Amino acid sequence: MKIRIKLLSFLLSLSILSAAQNVFAVGLTTEKKVEELLQKMTLEEKIGQMYQSRDGGQDSILKLVQKGNVGSFLGITDIILRNKLQKIAVEKSRLGIPLIFGFDTIHGYKTVFPIPLGQAASWNPKLAEKVAAVSAKESRSDGIDWVFAPMVDIARDARWGRIAEGFGEDTYLASLMAQAKVRGLQGYGDGLFGPDKVAACLKHYAGYGAAEGGRDYNTCEISQRTLREIYLPPFQAGVQAGAATIMSGFNEISGVPVTASRFLLTDILRGEWGFDGFVVSDYTSVRELIPHGIAIDETQAGKKALLAGIDMEMSSRCYLNNLSRLVRQDKISEKVIDQAVRRILRIKFDIGLFDNPYADPNKPSSVLLHKDHLELAREMARQSVVLLKNTNGILPVSKDIKSIALIGPLADSREDMMGTWKGVGDAEDVVTILEGIQDKASAECKINYVKGCDVKGDLIDGFAQAVEAAKKSDVVIMAVGESEKMSGEAHSRASLDLPGVQRELIEEVQKTGKPIVVLLLTGRPLAITWIDKNIPTILLGWHPGTQGGNGIADVIFGDYNPSGKITATFPRNVGQVPIYYNCKNTGRPPSESEYHTSRYIDSHWTPLYPFGYGLSYTTFHYSNLKVSPDKISMEQPVTISVDVKNAGKRAGEEIVQLYVRDVVGSVTRPVKELKGFEKILLKHGEKKTVSFTLTAEQLKFYNIDNQFVAESGMFKVMVGKNSVDCLESEFELTK
Ligand code: GLC
Repeated sequence: MKIRIKLLSFLLSLSILSAAQNVFAVGLTTEKKVEELLQKMTLEEKIGQMYQSRDGGQDSILKLVQKGNVGSFLGITDIILRNKLQKIAVEKSRLGIPLIFGFDTIHGYKTVFPIPLGQAASWNPKLAEKVAAVSAKESRSDGIDWVFAPMVDIARDARWGRIAEGFGEDTYLASLMAQAKVRGLQGYGDGLFGPDKVAACLKHYAGYGAAEGGRDYNTCEISQRTLREIYLPPFQAGVQAGAATIMSGFNEISGVPVTASRFLLTDILRGEWGFDGFVVSDYTSVRELIPHGIAIDETQAGKKALLAGIDMEMSSRCYLNNLSRLVRQDKISEKVIDQAVRRILRIKFDIGLFDNPYADPNKPSSVLLHKDHLELAREMARQSVVLLKNTNGILPVSKDIKSIALIGPLADSREDMMGTWKGVGDAEDVVTILEGIQDKASAECKINYVKGCDVKGDLIDGFAQAVEAAKKSDVVIMAVGESEKMSGEAHSRASLDLPGVQRELIEEVQKTGKPIVVLLLTGRPLAITWIDKNIPTILLGWHPGTQGGNGIADVIFGDYNPSGKITATFPRNVGQVPIYYNCKNTGRPPSESEYHTSRYIDSHWTPLYPFGYGLSYTTFHYSNLKVSPDKISMEQPVTISVDVKNAGKRAGEEIVQLYVRDVVGSVTRPVKELKGFEKILLKHGEKKTVSFTLTAEQLKFYNIDNQFVAESGMFKVMVGKNSVDCLESEFELTK
């Protein structure tokens, strides 16, 4: 939307309206149409636009729609019901204002892609954008105009179930992913949405991932500086990409529930960022201001949320039941209502709902699960896979292999492959790990599949059969991890261990002495320290989506050389959490030799696998790090280059990462921050020079006076294959 304002002013400055620019005429007409419509609306009809219902079928709701008291529905994936509701709104209500239909297309609609934490591991925003475009196309074809995605909450705590839904712990990467997803969903922000596009929704604004104890919906204590440097930038990036809507979170930040935070919803979002889309509350989060303890009843809750900047209330009816009375009692101005309604109507016009309010029931069959979408899902599944360990080179498995034991509760599970928030994905459309391997292995290969145990529970009566399968096979692949119900909303865990008796199953199978690959399928980082210590090969597949079995089989058999890198730190144990790479040094940084330093007496302080970590079937050597010039002014760029060689026998992709450390600041600074990355493909033996350019702009932070500035001084530069294994150099930034 912001882009429209800029383009509009540009156009006005030209003071000409050529035919080629009639798209802005539409823009100007939209504003005019919004105003004209607003003038005709009664107060109740205005407030109706600010209500999103979750109930589609009840007669009572149909009456509300006919009275113009509902502006939107969420979760209506029955296109016939959707059109029925729309017909009442458009043809039976007084002003015929169309409804807007929202849905949680988080990582796919019918074609389900890997969970976002897996997609982030591809470090491929362009591919993520294509995934979003397909998700939008499938959603729109089925009558969904607005999706509650991308979720851009930064998460530093793997206990939090919703870490699965976001892009991990790094702000820079999450910001790039946020922009990619918005563009994939909406297009490139010319103010109008094409027929295969939907309105995006950045969520959950803001700081939701900082829930204490990793316990969903829990209190968040976030300093102003951390809020602005870590949690807000992905939202700002999404706004800059033109996001049409934003969803407020359930959480509070330091005493203020974000759904009632004028500072966040108006001062920052509108005042600083110029966001002019609309804000929807999360599900009943307006009414939840009462249990939060800042509202005595639904009237006060509605008033506080409205005055803070919530334009549309999801599910609860604090607005619907109380705002008109508050206006009539002069306790709130109708102007505030008008402002919210303008924002909502504008998006409805931009999506084209006034011109074409109905969805074509014949369209989904030619769009959903299109073969191109499935191929893209397989590609994203491939690029999401992270090779965590491969000491004996067991992977890739030869296609001539004569027998494989496939063991574990996730080996042939359909539902779990889709992960949390699976849209309208059907388990029957999923390719399981077993099916992917069966499809890829040669006809002569004997695949001995045994479930072995459940994901949870303590039944071990499948162990013996698993051991037998292992004994008669050349290689063992153990598909273990979490079920799709163990991550996502309201699914926080106090433990990061493999659930149930899965580890015991691995231990039993390991006694056979057979080469073992542990394939980890999970919605979050897990503390797999024992596996790392005892198992030679570990592959991380996340919850890989509809084509997960094929994508992972492509990696197992070497048709794709794994390139993924984790974007959320894997701890050694849950006691280390929250743990993240861009931490502070402290006055007593952990040291092997110094006792009185920031460390544990019962665990090493470093993570099991650091941010940015992931291996390949080949090896990459870094050399010749150059920083030029080694002294720059605030206006000058510095160029950082490094040579990367593929020293192995096969082609592979490497994600070259650039980190920077501001050695001394007016406030403490992280020991490193990701400032750039490039994913390159190298043939075996090939060498490339990868270059990055940095300016003072990218070195800015909130200083001791909370000003967003770059400060002169020394900066360390680290370039490497992950956040730990880097070549180092430095440069000086002068005044
Ligand atoms: C939820 C979630 C939010 C989702 C909304 C609608 O409770 O927090 O992410 O978009 O409800 O389903």
